[in-house]
Amino acid sequence: MNRPSDLYIGIMSGTSLDGVDAALIDFSQAAPRLAASHFQPYPAALKEALLALHQPSLDELHQSQLIANQLAREYARATQTLLKKAGVAAASVQAIGCHGQTVRHRPEHGYSIQLNNAALLAELTGIHVVSDFRNRDIAAGGQGAPLVPAFHDMVSRHPNINRVILNIGGIANLTDLSPNKPTIGFDSGPGNLLMDAWIAGHQGKPYDKDGAWAAGGKVIPALLQKLLAEPYFAAPPPKSTGRDLFNLAWLESQLHGGETPADVQATLLALTGDSIADAVNRFCTRTREIYVCGGGAHNKALLSHLQLALPQCRIQKSEVLGIDADWMEAIAFAWLAQQAMHLRPANLPGVTGAKHPCVLGAIYPA
Ligand SMILES: Nc1ncnc2c1ncn2[C@@H]1O[C@H](COP(=O)(O)OP(=O)(O)O)[C@@H](O)[C@H]1O
Ligand SMILES: [Mg+2]
Repeated sequence: MNRPSDLYIGIMSGTSLDGVDAALIDFSQAAPRLAASHFQPYPAALKEALLALHQPSLDELHQSQLIANQLAREYARATQTLLKKAGVAAASVQAIGCHGQTVRHRPEHGYSIQLNNAALLAELTGIHVVSDFRNRDIAAGGQGAPLVPAFHDMVSRHPNINRVILNIGGIANLTDLSPNKPTIGFDSGPGNLLMDAWIAGHQGKPYDKDGAWAAGGKVIPALLQKLLAEPYFAAPPPKSTGRDLFNLAWLESQLHGGETPADVQATLLALTGDSIADAVNRFCTRTREIYVCGGGAHNKALLSHLQLALPQCRIQKSEVLGIDADWMEAIAFAWLAQQAMHLRPANLPGVTGAKHPCVLGAIYPA
C-alpha cells in the first residue's frame, strides 16, 4: 500500500563556503528517499563577505544581519529551484531544515552562530522553517556539533561490522558506528578548507580538482609535523572545530615563506589525510569499513592518501550504502527538521557531550 509522501527539505551550507546544498526528501518509506537535489554556488561577493565576517570587524553586528538576509534570499531561491525540479508544490512540504552559515563556533563560550534570517525564509517560501540547530545542545553542555552522527546512526549501522562514516567538508567529521557500543562522532580537524584557501591564494581556483595540484607537489615533513602538533588533534572527543581555529592565518604562522606552493598544497592534503587516519586509529579502533561523503569524497589524491594511511580499512564512497556523497548532510538536516517538527530529541549526548537528549532547532511557522 502506498503511504502519502512525507516531504522535508534540508538546506546545508557548510564551512567550505562553496554554496547551498538543497535536498527534497521523502520520509514516508523505511529509508529516506532523495526526491530532488540542487546545488547553488554562492555569488563570489557573498563568499568574500562571509570570509571577512569570520574576523572581528567594526559594525559586524549590522553587517552580519544584512548578510543573514542575503543568505535567506539565497536559501529561498534554492528552495524554489528545487521544488521546480521536483514538480512539487511548497504546500506539500512539511518543513525546511536550514543549517545557516556558521561564522563563529565557540561552544567553550556557550554559543555557535549560524547566520540566516529564518523568519524571512519562512515568509519567502511559505514553508515552516527549522533553524538554529546547535545552540540547544550547547545550552545542555554539549559541543553543538557534529549533529549528523545521529542520522548516520539511524541509516548506516551494521550489526557486526565496525564502520566509520567520514564527511569531508570544509572541516572533516567522523561517526564511529561500532556494534554493541554507543555511537561516537567528532570533528577530526581540517577537511578541505586549508587546501581550498591555499589554491585560491595561489591560483585563484576555488578548490584543487581531484587533488591534482597537491599530487604534483612533495610533502614537507617538518611542516607536516609542526601542523600535526596542534593540540586539537590529540584531544579526545567530544570535540568540534571550525574556521575559528583552522584558517589561513594559522597556516601562515607555521610557514617560513620560502616553501614551494605546490609542496605546501601536498602537505595540506597530507595534514587532512593523516589527521583523519590518526583519529580513526586513536578513537575509532577496530574500524574495518569507511564510507566517505562530502565534497572531499571527490578528491582522488586525498582518498588514495587515506587508503595508504589506513590499509586495514576498506574505504568507499557513501553511495555504496545508498546515500549520495554530495547530499548526505542536506538529507541529515531534512531529517533533523522532521525530528524538530515532531518535538523529538535529535542530539546524541555521547557524541556532543550534552548532559541530556534535546529537541534541536527553533521553528518559524510559515
Ligand atoms: N572534484 C573535486 N576534487 C577535489 N575537491 C573537491 C572536488 N569537488 C568538491 N571538492 C571539495 O569539496 C568542497 C565542498 O564540500 P562540501 O561537502 O560542500 O563542504 P561544506 O559542507 O563545508 O560546504 C569544495 O570546497 C572542495 O574543496
Ligand atoms: Mg558545501
